[in-house]
Amino acid sequence: MVESPFKPEILRGKVALLTGGGSGIGYEISLQLGKHGASIAIMGRRKHVVDSAVSSLNSLGIPAIGFEGDVRKREDAIRVVESTFKHFGRLDILVNAAAGNFLVPSEDLSSNGFRTVMDIDSVGTFTMCHEALKYLKKGGLGKDPSTAGGTIINISATLHYTATWYQIHVSAAKAAVDSITRNLALEWGTDYDIRVNGIAPGPIGDTAGMSKLGLEGILSKAMEKMPLFKVGEKWDIAMAAVYLASDAGKYVNGTTLVVDGGEWLSKPRH
Ligand code: HXC
Repeated sequence: MVESPFKPEILRGKVALLTGGGSGIGYEISLQLGKHGASIAIMGRRKHVVDSAVSSLNSLGIPAIGFEGDVRKREDAIRVVESTFKHFGRLDILVNAAAGNFLVPSEDLSSNGFRTVMDIDSVGTFTMCHEALKYLKKGGLGKDPSTAGGTIINISATLHYTATWYQIHVSAAKAAVDSITRNLALEWGTDYDIRVNGIAPGPIGDTAGMSKLGLEGILSKAMEKMPLFKVGEKWDIAMAAVYLASDAGKYVNGTTLVVDGGEWLSKPRH
């Protein structure tokens, strides 16, 4: 990992709310947004994970608060966005990083299993965006007009660009997330100056996704065909988030930035 190439104050005064921000890629994004000046609110289902993430951020001097909550519950979404606004007085950045995943052949996956991942990844993302809208709006409550117009970052994947073994539910869910990103970018970009973008991470080391999908073991095999010959770091995803959340990305709206070293389009050499 190298030092951030961005100035440390580029997000000064901003408030970011991250679902799934207590662990993995979500935590690294919390950390880097915080290191670049933002105050951080983390929402997660596991209290001890949220608490420990908040303590780590606080120990680095980053203002942070945590809320236990499940993105599948609308009442949790409403409570957390309201509480974030009450605590920090504004909301500028929403990062939807909460996700569910398991490997399962389609013929063994129940409708409820499929629905569970759709509910977390797709419906959960929509619900959080929907409930955060009034705080992210240009000229929204307590906002300084010169810095108005919030932004949303939806964490996606590259699984659905082609097809991925035993990931039918997650592929469908992330395809829906990408559609949500584009549609909200169109509607809310036009009406409220809210930019909505996504990040599609490739294989990122030291994450639940990698271990759950059993990818750690086949890492070296994957590396053989990867154009940049390495697995990514959580930092790589967090830097993309800093870029999209900051004014560096002020003309970027409705895109999902693939951060995978080119992995998804690679094929064996012949
Ligand atoms: C088959 C399964 C299953 C499995 C659950 N189900 N696990 N089916 N194989 N391994 C089915 C259950 O049988 C049930 O259906 C339904 O799913 C709901 O299961 P619950 O256990 O009740 O759900 P819940 O407790 O809410 O747990 C949700 C979860 C869980 C998705 C199953 O793993 C989770 O929330 N994980 C979050 C953390 C996580 O996975 N993060 C990593 C994301 S990585 P029935 O029909 O029996 O009722 C990521 C990266 C993607 O997203 C890209 C990678 C490259």
